[in-house]
Amino acid sequence: MDGFSRPECLPGTRQDILNWITDWLITPSQGQNIIWLHGLAGSGKSTISTTIAEYFRELKRLGAFMFFDRSESSEPAAVIRTLSYKLASFHPALRVAICAQIENDPGISEAPIRTQFSKLILEPLSSLPILHNEGPVIVILDAFDECGDSTSRRSLLMLLAQELEKFPSAFRFMVTSRR
Ligand SMILES: Nc1ncnc2c1ncn2[C@@H]1O[C@H](COP(=O)(O)OP(=O)(O)OP(=O)(O)O)[C@@H](O)[C@H]1O
Ligand SMILES: [Mg+2]
Repeated sequence: MDGFSRPECLPGTRQDILNWITDWLITPSQGQNIIWLHGLAGSGKSTISTTIAEYFRELKRLGAFMFFDRSESSEPAAVIRTLSYKLASFHPALRVAICAQIENDPGISEAPIRTQFSKLILEPLSSLPILHNEGPVIVILDAFDECGDSTSRRSLLMLLAQELEKFPSAFRFMVTSRR
């Protein structure tokens, strides 16, 4: 499904949780940069994440909004490359830094997933101190439980669990899934 056809919360609904998550995302906190929203099927996780993504998109603070779908395969390395692409679309200086990495290493898309993550995401980010003064950068991953199969999901989860803490502190992540 494309982003534009995803439903948002009806006006006035889910106000408490929307405010709570938004406040958490814009409030810097030491050692914590991921909020996990979990709940039963149909409990409104995707609707809430779409509403929050749109809120930050309008503020120009949405670094990436990615959503998974059981019906479409999403292998972990492709998720990393898509995240890199979305971050490149978000920020012109980041785009230049990511393009330089690809020009230096045109075969990067065939490298192991950890290398792709370092070269296409972490290194470009750490080369841009200016990003750190511009306000929060929100990254939302909706329906993580629908990403790939259980093996590929585990490998992506392990990578993210180890690497997301290395992001600059301006980056704040929201992940949703069924438990
Ligand atoms: N606040 C709301 N306003 C309007 N519609 C809503 C709201 N919350 C949920 N819905 C509707 O309820 C249905 C289920 O919500 P949603 O898809 O967000 O659930 P989910 O928790 O993401 O489920 P799943 O675990 O299957 O991904 C959707 O059709 C959505 O449009
Ligand atoms: Mg959902």
